[in-house]
Amino acid sequence: MATAATETEEIPEIQTEEHKLPPHPSAPQQKFRKDYAPPPYTISAVHLDFKLGEDTTLVTSRLHLQPNYGSLPEGTSRPALQLDGRKDIVLVSVAVGGQQLGQDQYLLTEKALTIANLPEGEFELEVVTQLRPQDNSLLEGLYKSSGNFCTQCEAEGFRGITYFLDRPDVMATYTTRMEADEAAYPVLLGNGNLKESGKLEGGRHYAVWEDPYPKPCYLFALVAGKLAMKERAFTTRSGRQVALRIFVQEGNLGKVDHALDSLVRSMRWDEDTFGLEYDLDLFNIVAVDDFNMGAMENKSLNIFNSRLVLASPQTATDLDYSRIEGVVGHEYFHNWTGNRVTCRDWFQLTLKEGLTVFRDQEFTADMNSRPVKRIEDVMMLRSSQFTEDAGPMSHPIRPESYIKMDNFYTVTVYEKGAEVVRLYDTLLGKEGFRKGMDLYFQRHDGHAVTCDDFLAAMADANGVNLDTLGRWYSQSGTPHLHVSSSYDAPSRTYRLTCKQHTPPGPGQDSKLPVLIPIKLGLLGPDGGLGSDMPLRLQGADGSVTDLGSTGVLRFETTEATFTFLDVPSEPVPSLLRGFSAPVKMEVEGQSEAQLLFLLAHDSDPFNRWEAGQRLSRKLLLQLYAAATAGGGAHNAQAVADRCTAAGGVPDAVVEAFRAVLEDETLDGSFKAMAVCLPTGNELLDSLPGGDPPLLHQVRMFVVRQLAARLRPQLEALVKANDDEPGEPYHFTAAACARRAIKNRCLAMLSSLEEPEITAMLLRRVKEATNMTDEIAALGCLVELAGPERDTALAAFYDKYRSEPLVLLKWLGLQATSNAPGNVSLVKGLVEHPAFNITNPNNCYSLFLGFGRSPVNFHAADGSGYEFMGDAVLRVDSINHQVAARMVSCFTTWRQYDSERQAMMRAQLERIVAANGLSENVFEIASKSLK
Ligand code: TRP
Ligand code: ZN
Repeated sequence: MATAATETEEIPEIQTEEHKLPPHPSAPQQKFRKDYAPPPYTISAVHLDFKLGEDTTLVTSRLHLQPNYGSLPEGTSRPALQLDGRKDIVLVSVAVGGQQLGQDQYLLTEKALTIANLPEGEFELEVVTQLRPQDNSLLEGLYKSSGNFCTQCEAEGFRGITYFLDRPDVMATYTTRMEADEAAYPVLLGNGNLKESGKLEGGRHYAVWEDPYPKPCYLFALVAGKLAMKERAFTTRSGRQVALRIFVQEGNLGKVDHALDSLVRSMRWDEDTFGLEYDLDLFNIVAVDDFNMGAMENKSLNIFNSRLVLASPQTATDLDYSRIEGVVGHEYFHNWTGNRVTCRDWFQLTLKEGLTVFRDQEFTADMNSRPVKRIEDVMMLRSSQFTEDAGPMSHPIRPESYIKMDNFYTVTVYEKGAEVVRLYDTLLGKEGFRKGMDLYFQRHDGHAVTCDDFLAAMADANGVNLDTLGRWYSQSGTPHLHVSSSYDAPSRTYRLTCKQHTPPGPGQDSKLPVLIPIKLGLLGPDGGLGSDMPLRLQGADGSVTDLGSTGVLRFETTEATFTFLDVPSEPVPSLLRGFSAPVKMEVEGQSEAQLLFLLAHDSDPFNRWEAGQRLSRKLLLQLYAAATAGGGAHNAQAVADRCTAAGGVPDAVVEAFRAVLEDETLDGSFKAMAVCLPTGNELLDSLPGGDPPLLHQVRMFVVRQLAARLRPQLEALVKANDDEPGEPYHFTAAACARRAIKNRCLAMLSSLEEPEITAMLLRRVKEATNMTDEIAALGCLVELAGPERDTALAAFYDKYRSEPLVLLKWLGLQATSNAPGNVSLVKGLVEHPAFNITNPNNCYSLFLGFGRSPVNFHAADGSGYEFMGDAVLRVDSINHQVAARMVSCFTTWRQYDSERQAMMRAQLERIVAANGLSENVFEIASKSLK
């Protein structure tokens, strides 16, 4: 029993604890996965009351707590309750069991409120805090955007609202009451169902929302504002009537149909594919302009960045339409994978994100073209995730430690995480995967679980051992797969020998082999048709899944040989079909002739594209070597001369691309991607000490050569795919495919820099009837120096002055442009009235856009680095998450030549040394330097 005496003894003890761990930003604390322990108390019910005001907002939180510490050994006192908080919130009062606590009865620091001597058993805790949402530029917790109140709590934003156990394994039911001025904030939204609403004195009104499903606090949300709404009815397959509502600013109501349609398709798809139905009568989406990320899956109240909701043919491109469909799906799918079954701790983030990305990828593949979607995703994975995984920020999809969780919403956790989920699907097949999902929900609905629980459900449901797949969760880095082959004509056998190794990374010196499913086919000569041969594997003992002529080898050791029987003649192997594992594959002795054969004949569309990429990659690396040899000038002409002297673009490559362009059976989107060269990021990976502007020149040389030699085909495709006059815009796979190939051809032609082509592009910008075509033509012009560029940009600005989402494109095109000497223009844009530094989308378009330019960000005089360094520090004083994303532009510094390394490093050192730096930026910058 606690006595008055032990009460006074307890508090100094906590203080010493706090002194050992000073919450000072100059010594940020790391959190480790191995330190996970359940909380000493749990919260079963939360009652929140918000008095929303212009000056201050008052939040009263009433919590129902239970002990979770089990039985205590004799003589030990009950553990203290440490609630998370943030330094900008003001604590007004604390009461335990109805008794107000005095200031000597709790300990308050910048980051926590600690209360000792709590009663035995269950108890009520009331915490009152005061906030100033209008000053919250972090956009975490409660803040204002375009005059409306909204929230963002993932990952740890709820502690910016009230003191709380801000961790996902604390799951409670929530009741939210909010009151505000009725004229200024007519719409009041919360999680779950509306229970009550009404008028109050002084022009105020209130609403009470109740969410019956227990959830972690990161899924809490509230919106209060002046918003217009569009509604659609949906009936689930078991007959539940659901109202789907999208809320936007008044003038944008005409731009929500595509998002609503996407939501309906997502809901139907999840029922059809996984048997998963929506579980409430209401599903709301709110669009806000100021948002750090894409969108957020708060229970029944998704909040979206407005660029992922609003679309019209005149303001959004095909890419925007497709992203909206994918993200609306993604957030909706979280209702089961993330909300009903959530994460035990933030180290498990990929449990919900990897799985939900996989689900949205499958959804998009089913709605549009499966091979096109797969190629797009792999392009992204290779150019962003492989780069991340080869650098100082490399981490496993389930990280071991972090300083700020926000920094681990990465392409590794999301996209590589989705690839790991795809491994189960490839190994178990669609039916096996579905069985695993069913068991996962059966076991874990309503709980906060781990990646191991997911793996166990997949393994148990299918009665298989997946232990080597588990290593994908703990090892960082991209595995290297090496394949060699030999054919023995007398015995008609064909052998594939596979080897794997994963390079060391931060904190991981040696790695174990991982389970790599190798999906493959063997192409026979077949009179030049290259049909798949039937596969017969020697000793087929479960290590191969028989899918007719496409098999899946289960490769999980350092080295293994697979022998195929009854192979009538030496085949051309088509390996890693559909990119069946996120690895870098080298095929020993793979000749140009074999790649040309695969590009022309592979039955797997992904591997047709891949063969073209491999050809281009070899060529670009050869030409880059020639361009660097012997020093020499880096201007376009000098680089072109050296590339030409080295043989230029071989006829065979030009002919292969010509065949692709002329192939009537191929889809336009596929063609557009097939003639697209690998990105600079992808190539720099194999070019230690690489020079990004030089590589850009080499790429442009190849593009120009192809454009010059394929000009008739390119012009014919433009003509064949142009709209008929008056043709309306449709977002269908077929219409997108036509625009994709047409605009790719125009981009290639524009590289020729001929006056008639430039004039034609200017005309196309003026006459375009949809944003896809308009921005494509403008994008070509922005790469060229000359009066057309300025004319087109000025006219575009005038036309779209009042369309903030379109102005993001205008900013982004200029920032990313490789027109030489563009740094000064970009500096000018920061001062332009169209640019708002407190808005994340503006910063992403301008600063991250600039960071993508190989020529200007990497300008030899260091001016691009200096500009970015200044911008990081300026933005960090406003929004830490945005600044952390910007500082990531410097993370790859070790990839470049020594002069650039020194300049980038100097910027990182300057940033790390800056006063008042956020933990977010500190973590990325300091780890980049290690
Ligand atoms: N869970 C969100 C998603 O669907 C990610 C997210 C939205 C987020 N806003 C955030 C993550 C802010 C961190 C901080 O992927
Ligand atoms: Zn997500």
